[in-house]
Amino acid sequence: MQFPIIGSSVLYLESCDSTNTELARISGNPDTMNGSVVLAFEQTAGKGQRGNIWKNEPHKDLTFSFLINKPDIRSEFVFFPLAATALGVYHFLSKRLPLKKVEIKWPNDVLVNGNKICGMLLENTFSGNQISKMIIGIGLNVNGKNYPDTRFPATSLVLEGEPETPPEDILLQLIPHLNAAFDKLRENPGFLLNAYNQVLFGKYHDVSIQEQDSITRVRIERVDSKGILHLINQDGKKIEAGMGEIKFLPD
Ligand code: BTN
Repeated sequence: MQFPIIGSSVLYLESCDSTNTELARISGNPDTMNGSVVLAFEQTAGKGQRGNIWKNEPHKDLTFSFLINKPDIRSEFVFFPLAATALGVYHFLSKRLPLKKVEIKWPNDVLVNGNKICGMLLENTFSGNQISKMIIGIGLNVNGKNYPDTRFPATSLVLEGEPETPPEDILLQLIPHLNAAFDKLRENPGFLLNAYNQVLFGKYHDVSIQEQDSITRVRIERVDSKGILHLINQDGKKIEAGMGEIKFLPD
């Protein structure tokens, strides 16, 4: 696995459709370095998971994407960079909010006391069985106070009692944590996966999941190197879920 230094170049945009889309557009330019970050103070067509819209008030929250070219990872291990990103955000937030419970909700949401503060969107390009390009987008709620109603209600740093801070300052504080997580991944992927599992939302607890139309109560066991979530149902039967196959329901 090989990763660039994230954020050695940062492009600040007043507005764009989506930082993921903008970075994809410029990723082929010779002056777009590996590891480049694009931050937008406003996104007019922010993208969320599963085709959802990611919306927030301009200048309030942090919305950015970074580029990883040729990470030398086989496509089946695409989960590792996603786990590293989630852990980087986790470490940043745990330091910032030492009295709160920060957790990663598989595969890539970050929760504070059960409320969603951060989401990620990974868009990959493959070449044969290798990943050739990854664009990782992060939406981190910083100064917002009003969010639409969602299954896991949204929170922000300000709603958690932090002072108002410009999103671009939060980016500069977050980047070292992202780089540290990618360093760990490079050195010891097993260790990184273990660290991810340690802070997994619902680990060894019973939670409700929705799979198509059925709702089941399950116990979360762990996530493996392919990003598969291992669960046990009420009858003791082992279940495996791939990314995007199930939804968690709040208690
Ligand atoms: C989710 O649904 O939880 C994922 C949200 C990802 C949002 C970020 S904001 C920056 C980047 N640009 C986008 O259009 N989406 C991601």
